[in-house]
Amino acid sequence: MVKIAPSILSADFANLGQDIDKVLKAGADWIHVDIMDGHFVPNISFGPPVLRCIRRATQGFLDVHLMISQPERYLEAFLEAGANLVNFHLEAQGDFYSLIRRVKAAGKLAALTVKPATPAEALFPYLPMLDMALVMSVEPGFGGQKFMPESLEKVRSLRRRIEEQRLSCLIEIDGGINGENAPLAVQAGADVLVAGSSVYGASDMTAAVAALRS
Ligand code: DX5
Ligand code: ZN
Repeated sequence: MVKIAPSILSADFANLGQDIDKVLKAGADWIHVDIMDGHFVPNISFGPPVLRCIRRATQGFLDVHLMISQPERYLEAFLEAGANLVNFHLEAQGDFYSLIRRVKAAGKLAALTVKPATPAEALFPYLPMLDMALVMSVEPGFGGQKFMPESLEKVRSLRRRIEEQRLSCLIEIDGGINGENAPLAVQAGADVLVAGSSVYGASDMTAAVAALRS
């Protein structure tokens, strides 16, 4: 069954614990945590100290999306702060084989992500080692942007490759996901849907999560 991972980028940062509880009670599976350094993307969110507080506030699964230029400098800090899954960007600096191994050695899940301009094929060499591949369906940096339908072809191509090689890697899609395009993403082969504004902006969160799932 498809997993729903609301992005707390659209939550009220002054009431994060409460806003995380709300989406989990509304039926969400994972919590998607967007980390932005103001360099890899033109926006700053928060770092390991806030993640540590989030970890204390919830037992939920924390899917940490690192939109930072130098993940190797901060990986240990995010692992220690309580990430359950760490998502690196292929466009960032680093030796991804060694980064992925470090995540696995810590007993956590590892994922790699591509921006809209990077082809899905760039992820192929890493798929056998990965727990998840993430296709960005907006330019990373901000919540509330419009879904890019071209991203569906990338999801399809990853799905084909994963099936051909009989791998267990999940596919996640992130950016502009709502009740209308969610079925298209799932048909294309997505296993995990990230949604920020369509969940946090909804007057009825339970209905919004259910709409994504159906
Ligand atoms: C974008 C982030 C996304 C974003 C999703 O840089 O990676 O996770 O918060 O928000 P919506 O669903 O509003 O596009
Ligand atoms: Zn994200």
